[in-house]
Amino acid sequence: MPTRYPLAVLVSGSGTNLQAILDATESPAYPAEVVVVISDRDGILAQERARSAGVATEVVAWSEHRERTLFTKAVCEAAVTHGAETLVLAGFMRILGSEAVERFPHRIVNIHPSLLPAFPGTIRAVDEALEHGVKVTGVTVHFVNEAVDQGPIISQEAIAIEPGDDAASLHARIQQVEHRLYPEAIAALAEGRLVVRGNHVDWRGR
Ligand code: GRF
Repeated sequence: MPTRYPLAVLVSGSGTNLQAILDATESPAYPAEVVVVISDRDGILAQERARSAGVATEVVAWSEHRERTLFTKAVCEAAVTHGAETLVLAGFMRILGSEAVERFPHRIVNIHPSLLPAFPGTIRAVDEALEHGVKVTGVTVHFVNEAVDQGPIISQEAIAIEPGDDAASLHARIQQVEHRLYPEAIAALAEGRLVVRGNHVDWRGR
């Protein structure tokens, strides 16, 4: 089998996006593979998902670093040790320092449950969309740069807010979209089909 693009997936919670990526990698035609799953805490479902898929896990505990530069360095080292070339943030609850962006230029991606630049920098993006009364929200996949949730946008999909939606029902629809959009964006990155010019990302061959 030809070598596939090596990913480190960074997680803090249940890891349904990790699962979607792992499922995609089961196809030999998928151009990337997960070489390590890194979490900032122990005992989370995402680690179980990694182990079930036979993927290495590493814990870089925030509690053992408590300082962003040291924490970031440890995360990068863990990724590099396993041969990863890209960091995929999938529900990772820590902000990485600028060293990560310098070491992985345009090779760190994140998924956010809103149409950025709406509702950035919060883990309450779904609740905030409902509280704000917007009629449409959605999903954004973007490159990570120094500014939280402000890196070049790779893909977005809108989701209508229905009468009677609550955070749980809306988040469930958002996650359905996430599980399709993220593996698709990662495949494009792995194949070198994403061209970044300033704030703009062009998809080749789309
Ligand atoms: C996702 O909704 C993602 O948009 C946000 O965190 C959530 C992670 O969910 N950044 P999961 O752990 O992948 O299920």
